[in-house]
Amino acid sequence: MEDIYFDDFIRHKSYGSEGYYKSSLTINEKNDFITSPNISNFFGNVIGKFIAEKIHNKFNKEKFNVIEIGSNDGTLSLHVLDYLSKFNNKIYQQVNFFLVEQNLNLEKKINRNLNRHKNKFAICSNIEEINSENKNSFVFCNELFDSLPFHRCIFREGKLYEILISKTKDKYIETEVEARTKLKDKIMSLNFDIEATFFFEFPSDEFFDMVKSINNMNNNILFLSFDYGDKKNILGSSKYPKGTARTFHNNRVNDNFYNNDVDITYSINFELLSREFISYGFNEEFFETQTKFLIDNSFLEIIDNSIKSSSVDTTKLKSLISPAFMGEAFKVIFFSKIV
Ligand SMILES: C[S@@+](CC[C@H](N)C(=O)[O-])C[C@H]1O[C@@H](n2cnc3c(N)ncnc32)[C@H](O)[C@@H]1O
Repeated sequence: MEDIYFDDFIRHKSYGSEGYYKSSLTINEKNDFITSPNISNFFGNVIGKFIAEKIHNKFNKEKFNVIEIGSNDGTLSLHVLDYLSKFNNKIYQQVNFFLVEQNLNLEKKINRNLNRHKNKFAICSNIEEINSENKNSFVFCNELFDSLPFHRCIFREGKLYEILISKTKDKYIETEVEARTKLKDKIMSLNFDIEATFFFEFPSDEFFDMVKSINNMNNNILFLSFDYGDKKNILGSSKYPKGTARTFHNNRVNDNFYNNDVDITYSINFELLSREFISYGFNEEFFETQTKFLIDNSFLEIIDNSIKSSSVDTTKLKSLISPAFMGEAFKVIFFSKIV
């Protein structure tokens, strides 16, 4: 292997032809980590309720799309559509629903999972493929941004470095090299508080391109995103050389990025995400924990209503809102742009 920058290494490991997110296995089948929609259908049901309310309040009876980006096997969209078909049939009848998933090896599984909503949705491999004249879109995603490539950077005595990887025999060696000009210019334009030495992850082009593509979609956009991370400072800096970068395999967290078949991830810098959306004229309506979002949007009432008709695993449900598990580590951010 030739020397490779850290972001290119992730790009290859996650999205190369043999990459982690190109496999025909779903997240559920790989069993390396679990996401909220795979824990319970109530997560998507709450999002369905939220979407219905916002469409009603903001889109003024005009035609609209609902779009999930990074749907994997469609589990979350299924739970959103289930909620709409059962509790808000008017919106269900009117919606143009799209699942955007770059991994087309999952197309069959998506179609199978959403079989009861056949003819109600279309699958696209990127945002630009969405074919709709509608001027209003509600866009949502869960754990999309944390799966995109990122740089590992170091700011040391006024100079910016990034990690370069070399492979010798069976060993990977990380070296700090001067950051490439494009990355340096982007980071230095961000007006941050300078500390002596700090480590941080910085998203690659895919993060910025994603926000740009969402903005280019159409006139009125509501955007709801769930991910782990925080809003601390503009670079989310850390004293630890590996920052928040980590891997998941068989439900274990590790920081050896060089093992085979692991999911490489990091915590989202919501401050940066927010600045990016605001730069396109979006308004940030709220940023809060997953616990608050679920409780404020009738999570408990939805469970209560369903509990009579189905068996509910309460331990699983608690993990969605428990501060010790997903509830506080996961954040929700909601932006709107109505022109
Ligand atoms: C961590 S997984 C989360 C999947 C699902 N949202 C969930 O919560 O279970 C990230 C997903 O985003 C998809 N993805 C990454 N980049 C994408 C892009 N540019 N367009 C569409 N999907 C993308 C990946 O293929 C993967 O299915």
